[in-house]
Amino acid sequence: MTTVKVEVSGSYCVDIGAGLLEELGVRALEVAKGTAAVIVSDDTVNALYGDRAETALVRSGFSVCRFVFPHGEASKNGTTYLNLLQFLAEHSITRSDLLVALGGGVTGDLTGFAAATFLRGIRFVQVPTTLLAAVDSSVGGKTGIDLPAGKNLAGAFYQPKRVVCDYETLRTLPPDIFADGCAEVIKYSILGSPELYDHLLEKGADFDTEAVIAQCVAMKRDVVRDDEFDTGRRQLLNLGHTIAHGIEACSHYEISHGRAVAMGMAIIARAAARKGYCTAECAEAIERVIRRFGLPVETEYSAAALTQWALSDKKRAGNRITLVVPRKIGHCDLVKIPVSELQDWMEAGLPL
Ligand code: NAD
Ligand code: GLY
Repeated sequence: MTTVKVEVSGSYCVDIGAGLLEELGVRALEVAKGTAAVIVSDDTVNALYGDRAETALVRSGFSVCRFVFPHGEASKNGTTYLNLLQFLAEHSITRSDLLVALGGGVTGDLTGFAAATFLRGIRFVQVPTTLLAAVDSSVGGKTGIDLPAGKNLAGAFYQPKRVVCDYETLRTLPPDIFADGCAEVIKYSILGSPELYDHLLEKGADFDTEAVIAQCVAMKRDVVRDDEFDTGRRQLLNLGHTIAHGIEACSHYEISHGRAVAMGMAIIARAAARKGYCTAECAEAIERVIRRFGLPVETEYSAAALTQWALSDKKRAGNRITLVVPRKIGHCDLVKIPVSELQDWMEAGLPL
């Protein structure tokens, strides 16, 4: 087992190991004050792991109830959020009780936002069951829901009290959802670790799960410690994401976030090479590792269409937008450009 300690506005441990779901109760007890725990999960994850999580919590003395919602991004909305708050109120949950987010990023974001706002804040624990949630969304305290106007537009920075990552749960992930998480793992290697890049290129999807999750979490921990509220360095974690959000929106969310991030990273890398920020070899290396995981490096959408969507992204500030630009494997820079230049960047990253 590996534990990564996160020290931000509250400090907490991220435990990463095989079989940790059995120890959920013991680990939750260390951060809980009350006796009630509410498991929040989507229907797929609840069917797979809900009973085991509940048994582990009951064994440690918690009284447990479950809030289960239909799986998928479409559930990360105001209706599910309000239903969850109402459920908590009806079950007389108090400030000393605990929410347990058992699932992927949708469950974690929704539960975290409910925890941040119910009774002005109650404790919650993240139990990530997707690779994306393990390496990214369960750590760092970004919580929220989607609005009809766009993704993640309502939310709060609110840190979990603990993250318990049993990576054996990843075994039941459909391959395409596992691959989505791989795009985020690749992102960390391009941002900060040539060694991780080499490991991923060599092993592909057979990478050393515990070591790789722990390394990604430690990298995110370092970034979040420096910039918890996303005003500077944390924006590096958005490598490929401005373009990805354009691709997701253009596809009406038919293209998954992970695939869109893979395309976004390849496109920004080609643009960076054509504009002299990195070498052509660097951009080729980025494409190579993305292809190694069977992820896409091209998009059918035009630079104009992507630009239009990217401009409605949260990362825009007035008439400037910040791009995350690769310099070499293991190092990226934040580059602020006028929005009027964004389409030119997109064009530079699309096939000639
Ligand atoms: P998700 O939670 O919808 O999970 C994807 C699918 O996998 C779901 O259908 C779920 O039922 C299924 N699933 C989950 N665990 C499983 C398992 N072990 N076995 C079988 N099936 C399983 O989506 P996701 O890809 O985990 O996360 C995407 C969400 O995360 C988006 O809403 C995104 O905005 C958010 N996100 C948040 C942050 C953050 O910092 N808070 C960072 C990145 C992404
Ligand atoms: N996933 C990006 C962040 O946490 O900032």
